[in-house]
Amino acid sequence: MSGAKAKSVFCTNHVWRCDLSSKLGYISAMKILGIETSCDETAAAIVQGNGAGAGTIISNVVLSQLDDHRPFGGVVPEIAARAHLDHLDSIIARALAEAELGLDAIDGIAATAGPGLIGGVHVGSMTAKAIASARGLPFIAVNHLEAHALTARLTNGVAFPYLLLLVSGGHCQLLAVEGLGQYSLLGTTIDDAIGEAFDKTAKLLGLGFPGGPAVQEAATHGDPKRFKLPRPLKGREGCDFSFSGLKTAVRQTALKLDEPAIEQDTYDLAASFQTAVCDTVTDRCKNAFTLFEEKLGMPPPALVAAGGVAANLALRATLEAICAPQAIQLVVPPPALCTDNAAMVAWAGLERLQAGLTSPMNFQPRPRWPLAELRAAE
Ligand code: KG4
Ligand code: ZN
Repeated sequence: MSGAKAKSVFCTNHVWRCDLSSKLGYISAMKILGIETSCDETAAAIVQGNGAGAGTIISNVVLSQLDDHRPFGGVVPEIAARAHLDHLDSIIARALAEAELGLDAIDGIAATAGPGLIGGVHVGSMTAKAIASARGLPFIAVNHLEAHALTARLTNGVAFPYLLLLVSGGHCQLLAVEGLGQYSLLGTTIDDAIGEAFDKTAKLLGLGFPGGPAVQEAATHGDPKRFKLPRPLKGREGCDFSFSGLKTAVRQTALKLDEPAIEQDTYDLAASFQTAVCDTVTDRCKNAFTLFEEKLGMPPPALVAAGGVAANLALRATLEAICAPQAIQLVVPPPALCTDNAAMVAWAGLERLQAGLTSPMNFQPRPRWPLAELRAAE
């Protein structure tokens, strides 16, 4: 692999909080090694529980494969799997070294076991199983979406229940989260995922790969009102999403521009697209507030945004604007913990191990593994 750089992306030291009378559940001071290999990040992290509430990230190493995939304009599964195989061992060693810990200090090994690109998922879960069986440690097969869903509990100690907006490269969903493994789907995209819409828009505008951060950056120089773009499903009942019409409208608008398009056109179109996405998402979230209340008999105490697109600063600002008037707490993890990382996998593993949920060594990785189908006992 060429040009890939491992970086330690995040390290927090949360204050010890131990409220034994809390109904949040006691999360002990276990240390879990987490492994993430479901897409184009090879990552390993060590996370520790701190009683009830937020956890501590002791080390968090992410090796991005972006440079390997950039020439192809997207992630190539075969290249990703080989890169995970080449680098995972050294990334795990680095996570342990940065934590100044040996495997004897670790209480369990968690790895993403799906959904994702299956070659990479196999590399991560086989490695985790091998370490677990060699050291006699529990193995925890983590659902990647559950790892995103629980990140706000690692960073902010958010209590159940909450409304979850899961926005990533492969998903766009609103879910009621009532507990570990208890996710009810309120709405989902009927066509493209939201991250896919960002990535395709970036490609169309020649902004490069990965698309989300590139569109966000271009949009900061643009006029969001210049182009009239649709807000798919806005004003309709429910909280499903649709992005394919918006994507087509961006393409048609780009085709009408004078050739060659000047830089300002690109900036304005990126800004108009991003504003259309934010408008749509906020409309859908408002409906989700009502659906959540109908289902749980209470308004959502918190809206948690998770997944790579939750790193988008414009989206964060618009979500804040709808939560504040309704006294709903908005929780969005720091950008480096919204995009794929292993700290979230370690944390999901820690929550599961604490609940006595471990996985058998013959657990089969799953390319498709919807969150709403996940049960606490899986
Ligand atoms: O959660 P994630 O890292 O991987 C998946 O599980 O899919 O999400 C990746 C997606 C990509 O589509 C990427 O373009 C998007 O998240 N993304 C963003 C931003 N950062 C990453 N989209 C919009 N704005 C961003 N700042
Ligand atoms: Zn992800």
